Amino acid sequence: MSNQLNKVKELIELREEARLGGGQKAIDKQHQKGKYTARERIAMLLDEGSFEELDMFVKHRCTNFGQDKKHILGDGVVTGYGTIEGRLIYLYAQDFTVFGGSLSETMAQKICKVMDMAMKMGAPCIGLNDSGGARIQEGINALSGYAEIFQRNVMASGVIPQISGIFGPCAGGAVYSPALTDFTLMMEGTSYMFLTGPKVVKTVTGEDVTQEDLGGASVHATKSGVTHFTAETEEEGLAMIRLLLSYLPQNNMEEAPFVECDDATDRLEDSLNEIIPDNPNKAYDMHEVITRIVDHGEFLEVQPQYATNIIVGFARFNGQSVGIVANQPSSYAGVLDCNASRKGARFVRFCDAFNIPLVTLVDVPGFLPGTGQEYNAIILNGAKLMYAYCEATVPKITITLRKSYGGSHIVMSCKQLRGDLNYAWPTAEIAVMGAAGAANILFAKEAKTKEDPAKFIEDGIAEYTKLFANPYNAARYGYIDDVIEPRNTRFRIIRGLQQLQTKKLTNPAKKHGNIPL
Ligand code: HXC
Repeated sequence: MSNQLNKVKELIELREEARLGGGQKAIDKQHQKGKYTARERIAMLLDEGSFEELDMFVKHRCTNFGQDKKHILGDGVVTGYGTIEGRLIYLYAQDFTVFGGSLSETMAQKICKVMDMAMKMGAPCIGLNDSGGARIQEGINALSGYAEIFQRNVMASGVIPQISGIFGPCAGGAVYSPALTDFTLMMEGTSYMFLTGPKVVKTVTGEDVTQEDLGGASVHATKSGVTHFTAETEEEGLAMIRLLLSYLPQNNMEEAPFVECDDATDRLEDSLNEIIPDNPNKAYDMHEVITRIVDHGEFLEVQPQYATNIIVGFARFNGQSVGIVANQPSSYAGVLDCNASRKGARFVRFCDAFNIPLVTLVDVPGFLPGTGQEYNAIILNGAKLMYAYCEATVPKITITLRKSYGGSHIVMSCKQLRGDLNYAWPTAEIAVMGAAGAANILFAKEAKTKEDPAKFIEDGIAEYTKLFANPYNAARYGYIDDVIEPRNTRFRIIRGLQQLQTKKLTNPAKKHGNIPL
């Protein structure tokens, strides 16, 4: 065999060694836990045969605690680029079979390299996390590695989409990279995220809590809102990332891809003319409105289990990607509280950063009153949603279906927050507050002087309702651009979006605003 062939053989063997990660025993252990390896995940995520791996021969430089005798090619993370539906993406996948996927100085360098490339090329960056945290043997070098990643996460924020998949442990400071990215997906049963684990919690606070109850997928999907998506299987989770990317542009200078649409643009939805219950206090499911107006009824809901009184997610109108924000009357009457406001605000800002038009569906009785909300700074949280809509320069179409009262009317993308098209259904009630509340304040004093105070208040409610519980008063001033037939909603939105395609609006030059965090 020639010298050159020998060298090629050596290369092939080294590649095989690297592909085995921490070895067959560790791979079997990973499988026994119901988890895939980093390379198996990449193969499922990317278009077949599109992955180009980088830095396969990187080794750590640590000499502490006998580490100089333990080297594994690639050092616990698989990095590179490939395509999803033919579109370029960069990614890294931590390999738990190598030192528990723990982050070393060199692993951080590998991750930073693909992040830098993603920024240079203007392509999304995906991180598949499965790691025991900072590589304990390396100490401060591992910490500095995390800091390098966080700095890049922030610089990339609003420039390229960043997605974090959590496929195993993600603990300690490691949680901050996913938190800084745009979307996080967690695996049910096999992943967890927390700053301090159950043992530290017990020592510091005395609280007994399991890993799952402290930072499992369902906790972060329902209570904290840390994760945007959850999946039962890794296959499902990786498919969800592919689906999510289909709604997003490659970077902040591009538009989301148009998809050929064979759902009629002039499709009338007669059922929408009868969806609003006669009783104003009765709920209906806003999902039904959304799925009836968007292309093929397809809606990718973001944070579906968190702050369910507001719905946010991606859909398409005539093939164009949009972000939908909608109050949900069937969850706490669609009231805006701290969590719903923050959820809405973050989503609006994401869409604005990535040129995705916003369609807002309004049926909101107001902000939730009470000490619980005030002590949790509903003032600041509500202001976040306000700030996000005020700041947004993407096309903004708002449809008011029913209630739109007071501050919540303003916050939900009203005309004065630079709404481009503000339509209302004939069932809309746009007023400073609900008729009953208003009449009780306006007429309470006078009612006491009447023979039948209750009747007097009732008459007051009827008068207020007649005057304000309709869309025409707002339309009279041009605050509503048109009152539309509900069944025409899809058609009117599509026409509106077409018209707004050339929209140009820029905010004043500044270093950055000061959003009420
Ligand atoms: C080095 C690690 C490691 C780590 C795991 N391993 N975590 N090596 N640094 N952080 C190694 C283990 O020693 C083991 O090596 C192999 O990975 C598999 O780990 P197991 O414990 O056998 O796996 P499992 O039973 O599934 O438990 C997983 C685990 C546990 C729960 C993640 O390994 C664990 O608690 N790890 C430590 C977590 C932690 O405290 N990390 C540091 C946090 S501080 P062998 O050779 O035996 O196979 C931090 C600060 C970051 O992250 C701050 C950033 C700002």
